[in-house]
Amino acid sequence: MRGVVLAGGLGTRLHPLTKVTNKHLLPIYDKPMIYYPIEALTNAGIKEIMVVTGGNNAGDFLRLLGNGKDFGLSRIHYAYQEGEGGIAEALGLAESFAEGRPICVVLGDNIIEKNIIRAVDEYRQQGGGARIMLKEVPDPERFGVPVFEGDRVTGIEEKPKSPRSSYAVIGIYMYDSRVFDIIHGLSPSERGELEITDVNNDYIRAGTMQWSVLDGWWTDAGTIESLLKAGNLVAKTGANKRK
Ligand code: DAU
Repeated sequence: MRGVVLAGGLGTRLHPLTKVTNKHLLPIYDKPMIYYPIEALTNAGIKEIMVVTGGNNAGDFLRLLGNGKDFGLSRIHYAYQEGEGGIAEALGLAESFAEGRPICVVLGDNIIEKNIIRAVDEYRQQGGGARIMLKEVPDPERFGVPVFEGDRVTGIEEKPKSPRSSYAVIGIYMYDSRVFDIIHGLSPSERGELEITDVNNDYIRAGTMQWSVLDGWWTDAGTIESLLKAGNLVAKTGANKRK
C-alpha cells in the first residue's frame, strides 16, 4: 500500500498566518504540521509516500522534508497542485505514483493521537473497494457526516446544517485504483472544488465502502481554534502513538 499526504490548498481560514507561508508548515506544538500525517502513514508501515503540495512556499517542503530521513524513509515523492481545486483534485495528481496499487490518503491538517494500524489491516483483508474512518465529535456540521441505516453507512453529507449523526468522516481514506476513474468523472461542487465526499459516495453507491472508528483523539488544524486545540492536545498527550 502506498501513502499520499495532501498538503495543497491556500489555507485561507488561517489568514493572516497563511498569507506568506503554507498552512502545513505552521507549528503544531514542537513540529511542523506536515510531520504528523507523514508519521501517521509510516507508523502503519507505509514507506512509499507522496506529498502533494501547492500554494505558497511549495519549495520549503523539499527543504524541510528532503528525502524523508527524519521518518526513516529513503525518498519522498512530490507533486504540485496549481490553485485550490479541492481534495479530490489534489489526490488525482497521485495517479501515476499509485501505479494501480491501493493507497492510504491522509489530509495534511489531520492529527491523530494513536495510529491506523488496525484500519489498514482491515482494509487489506476487505479485498478492494474503499474504507473511511469515523470519529464521534461535538461539531459534526464542520465535517463530512455519515448517514447510517443500522450499522450501514448509506451516504455522506458534506458540512450539513443539520447533521444526521454525531460522527465526522476524518481525513484518512483507503482506496483501490478505481478512485482515479471516479475522480476523472467528478464535477466541481458549489464551492468550486472536486470533493472527496463525492468520491466516497460513489464507493458507497457501488456497495464497496467499509468503515472503521478511530481510537484516541483526532482533530483537524485548519482553523485558528482547531490549530490551537491541536497544539494543546499534542503538548498534553503526544501524537501518533504506536499503542
Ligand atoms: O478534516 C476532515 C474533513 O476534511 C472532512 O470531514 C471533510 O469531509 C473534507 O471535505 C475536509 O473538509 P475541509 O473543508 O475541512 O477540508 P480543507 O479544505 O480544510 O482541506 C483539508 C486538507 O486537504 C488541507 O489541509 C490540504 C488538502 N487540500 C485541500 C484542498 C481544498 C489540498 O491538498 N488541496 C485542495 O485544493
